[in-house]
Amino acid sequence: MTESQLADDANPLLAGLAGPRTPDPCALVIFGASGDLSRRKLLPALYALARNGLLPDAFAVLGVGRTEMTDAGFQAHMRGAIEQHGRFAFDEDVWRELAAGMRYVAAGLDDESAGGPVTDALKALERERGTAGNRVFYLAVPPAAMEDVVAAIGTWRPAGGWRRLIVEKPLGHDLASARQLNAFVLERFFESEVFRIDHYLGKETVQNLAVLRFANGIFEPVWNRQFIDHVQITAAESIGIGSRGAFYEHTGATRDIFQNHLLQLLALTAMEPAADFTADAVRNEKVKVFKSLDRPGLEQLVRGQYGPGFVEGGEVRGYREEEEVASESVTETYFAAKLYVDNWRWAGTPFYVRCGKRLARQETTIAIQFKRAPHLPFALDSDDDARPNVLLIHIQPDEGVSMTLNAKVPGYGVTIRGVNMDFAYGGAFRTDLPEAYERLILDALLGDAILFTRADEVEEQWALVDAIRAHWQADPDGLAGYVAGSWGPSNADALIHGDNRSWRRH
Ligand SMILES: NC(=O)c1ccc[n+]([C@@H]2O[C@H](COP(=O)([O-])OP(=O)(O)OC[C@H]3O[C@@H](n4cnc5c(N)ncnc54)[C@H](OP(=O)(O)O)[C@@H]3O)[C@@H](O)[C@H]2O)c1
Repeated sequence: MTESQLADDANPLLAGLAGPRTPDPCALVIFGASGDLSRRKLLPALYALARNGLLPDAFAVLGVGRTEMTDAGFQAHMRGAIEQHGRFAFDEDVWRELAAGMRYVAAGLDDESAGGPVTDALKALERERGTAGNRVFYLAVPPAAMEDVVAAIGTWRPAGGWRRLIVEKPLGHDLASARQLNAFVLERFFESEVFRIDHYLGKETVQNLAVLRFANGIFEPVWNRQFIDHVQITAAESIGIGSRGAFYEHTGATRDIFQNHLLQLLALTAMEPAADFTADAVRNEKVKVFKSLDRPGLEQLVRGQYGPGFVEGGEVRGYREEEEVASESVTETYFAAKLYVDNWRWAGTPFYVRCGKRLARQETTIAIQFKRAPHLPFALDSDDDARPNVLLIHIQPDEGVSMTLNAKVPGYGVTIRGVNMDFAYGGAFRTDLPEAYERLILDALLGDAILFTRADEVEEQWALVDAIRAHWQADPDGLAGYVAGSWGPSNADALIHGDNRSWRRH
């Protein structure tokens, strides 16, 4: 018996964790294979899948980038990436098998004829590895190069096999550009062949949100405006923008985090139960949420930018002093909003959302705050002793779920304090959580689009962001400052204090 079998026997909860299906034989073509995403996320994820026996026997990876590299050079580069960023100890046998099907072609693909060397290499690799003509194209290239690559590969229809296209964010920078990109892609690929990544959807805790809501009978009856006072969704980062100043200047918190990750978390929290857990059924429900989102007025919005301060004990500079950032920049590094989902379930229940950089701590959470008990029959010094119940879903870090309950403090009188009932992933299942990219790549290889966004979802998300940004054009001086290491600008507090509520501080 192996060490891992022993561990599995000791922990019966692990029995449900093995992946049930293995993908068809296929070749994965990564455009942008010499880039950062490939090195930090994609290859380590592929290695983890290989190590867990989740890749098909007939599998190949063709890397494409503009940097000149030999196959051996690419393999060495990727081996280093896996050793540095992988979540498992490096295993030579796993690596040997993966590397045997790994090739690289240097090509820019800025005109359709430039694809010749790539198709030649792909066909040779397919013959060698027996991948049956099934192809997955991964677009890990900058937005400016996306259409060139899609135009080139749009005509590469394998004889007999299937093909899929994985597209990385950003999916446009506003509604018009998202529509244009969607139309461009959908002239060449069917929607069912397109897998648009929002890597938050690959996170275990985000998937658990659906299970929590729809596999536990106790929540559905209270998951509505009658019992829930409000919802808070927070995506706080303590890091700044690092070396991504040029990118961030044109993006900002609203487009970078709110448009995709926060809105997806909101949709999963607010959506109706889908008829079944299939891609279109779930995505239909999410689109209904986006369509029900009221367009917020300016008074429901806050945007801010960090100044100098201290984060985790170290002094940090302000946003305008960061590299490649304009000294007069008005890019928002913080965004908060009070949103309403105008439907029967949620009418009148605020969803407060916020995201930002250089905040006090890194954490992503969804807090469902229930209404207070209608009447307290105890003689208490203050009603504050009995707090409203909160269901807190920790997306990252410390993945898990906790519920705050009021309990009697042991003693002779009645004193009430909030206590937590915790479920922590690490502790309960005693296993590491897979990286989001592992799950997402595996699902794309399997052809399961449930964790990917559909064209209409993306467009609905941008339509809301456009409406928000239009307010800002009419309010150019509305950017508030905040001290790095704080919880954001003071008007974000005012936004929620005005409703006699407050942001959670964890
Ligand atoms: N890095 C992340 O953590 C991350 C996270 C989420 C989303 N993304 C998205 O993923 C994409 C790639 O990001 P990245 O950080 O990996 O960028 P990157 O480090 O700049 O790499 C870009 C890659 O695309 C290649 N490339 C550029 N223009 C090309 C063209 N015309 N034809 C073919 N290849 C071309 C580059 O080749 P050469 O370098 O060899 O010239 C390089 O391999 C971007 O859309 C980004 O927004 C990245």
